[in-house]
Amino acid sequence: MQLNFIANADVPSSSGRTLQVLDPSDGQPFDEIQRSNAADIDSAVRAARDCFEGVWHKVSAADRGRLLYKLSQKIAEHVDELALIEQRDCGKPVKQARADALALVRYFEFYAGACDKLHGETIPYQDGYSVFTWREPHGVTGHIIPWNYPMQIFGRSVGGALAAGNVCVVKPAEDACLSLIRVAQLAAEVGFPAGALNIVTGYGHEVGDALARHEGIDHISFTGSPKIGTLIQQVAAERHCPVTLELGGKSPQIIFADADLDAAIPVIINAIVQNAGQTCSAGSRVLIQRGIYEPLLERLGRAFEALRVGPAAMDLDVGPLIRQTQQQRVWDFLSDAQVAGIPMVAHGIVVDEAPETGFYQAPTLLRDVPVNHRLAQEEVFGPVLAAMQFADEDEAVALANATQFGLVAGVWTADGARQFRMAKRVRSGQVFINNYGAGGGVELPFGGVKSSGYGREKGFEALYGFTTLKTVAIKHG
Ligand code: NAI
Ligand code: MG
Repeated sequence: MQLNFIANADVPSSSGRTLQVLDPSDGQPFDEIQRSNAADIDSAVRAARDCFEGVWHKVSAADRGRLLYKLSQKIAEHVDELALIEQRDCGKPVKQARADALALVRYFEFYAGACDKLHGETIPYQDGYSVFTWREPHGVTGHIIPWNYPMQIFGRSVGGALAAGNVCVVKPAEDACLSLIRVAQLAAEVGFPAGALNIVTGYGHEVGDALARHEGIDHISFTGSPKIGTLIQQVAAERHCPVTLELGGKSPQIIFADADLDAAIPVIINAIVQNAGQTCSAGSRVLIQRGIYEPLLERLGRAFEALRVGPAAMDLDVGPLIRQTQQQRVWDFLSDAQVAGIPMVAHGIVVDEAPETGFYQAPTLLRDVPVNHRLAQEEVFGPVLAAMQFADEDEAVALANATQFGLVAGVWTADGARQFRMAKRVRSGQVFINNYGAGGGVELPFGGVKSSGYGREKGFEALYGFTTLKTVAIKHG
């Protein structure tokens, strides 16, 4: 049984209720988490506030950096343990679970080094004045984390917030709590003061909502669906609480006829099947220039047919989806495709060892997807790739930008001038040329335009979002 982690102690929810934890590889329960409520959020916010006012704001930036670095090292010692937890809790193949744990190490390492490099400026002003700015932490920050990359998204969100001098109340997704509870325990072991990092588990509409509404929360970071992003924004607007939103994408991989296809193909495949397609920055649309449409689809089709799907412990190309409702969501998209007469090029294979009760979905490649069909517009969050064709650069740009999202784009071309033109014309938070960093790169600012959200996480840039700027003007004559 897992408990909440508040003020460096394992505590049960005041509700006395719990939720089952399922293993997506076989659909069976193996643990329980707390089904917390508003009272638990209130305890966590109080603990966080006491820590911030009493202890944390006096800790020097250098000492904060040392603590974050110690935590990175502690996590590094526990990579195997954390990867195993994540494999079971989220159905992540071993390689992916390890990659997530190692990324978490990297986030804390990166933000450890950033703590004492975040500074304000002096501003030339009228004679007789000195004007400067301070970067101050918001105070108590709330973090609503999704289930697709719990450790990575925790790392970027909580790592940045702590580095900037904030304290944190974290609400993990109900399907993916276990690794984050463990990380908070490790943080206490390396010396984070009680209340600096609190974890409260439970349903989004109960405990997530309570966190978003709590008056003691000074900033909210949310990663998840556009629908809940809208709710968070509305709730936060009531008290003018700043929010950072990352709401996913429908990211295009744009392949010109002069591209190095040998280099592109494995990257196109990985960008949609990594984590079974449950990636905010998944390359879920492949836009292909006319002359190479058929031959490239054939090669992609062969690659899809070679993909094997199975239990996380088998460490195949693809693991199960997180839960039954997510599997149903993918089925709904695929049955809509069938009704619309969208042709399927190829699909991978679910291995015989995969239990019937697990949440498996074979990766599927669809072609000639009409630009207005929901498969070209909405996030599937499963291993489904929609192929479309374009004639020239203008049409590629129009198609790339023809969704409500704008998170990431990949452009594959040997033409240097076109690389720059495309990078400028595509509307998204990140553009990759002749590569695609699906979610990777702790140093690289990440976030969206349009309905993909706003604010930037990752990299040094995130620290600006986790602080507020105070301007001080002194008149000394
Ligand atoms: P969701 O947006 O409901 O869940 C994300 C987080 O928000 C979870 O921690 C959840 O508990 C919390 N939450 C839910 N309702 C809330 C509320 N009323 N107030 C506060 N917090 C709340 O996403 P869900 O239902 O798990 O997945 C649905 C779709 O959302 C996916 O198929 C995918 O398209 C998208 N999604 C995108 C993610 C991304 O990385 N951008 C991550 C997760 C989901
Ligand atoms: Mg789980």
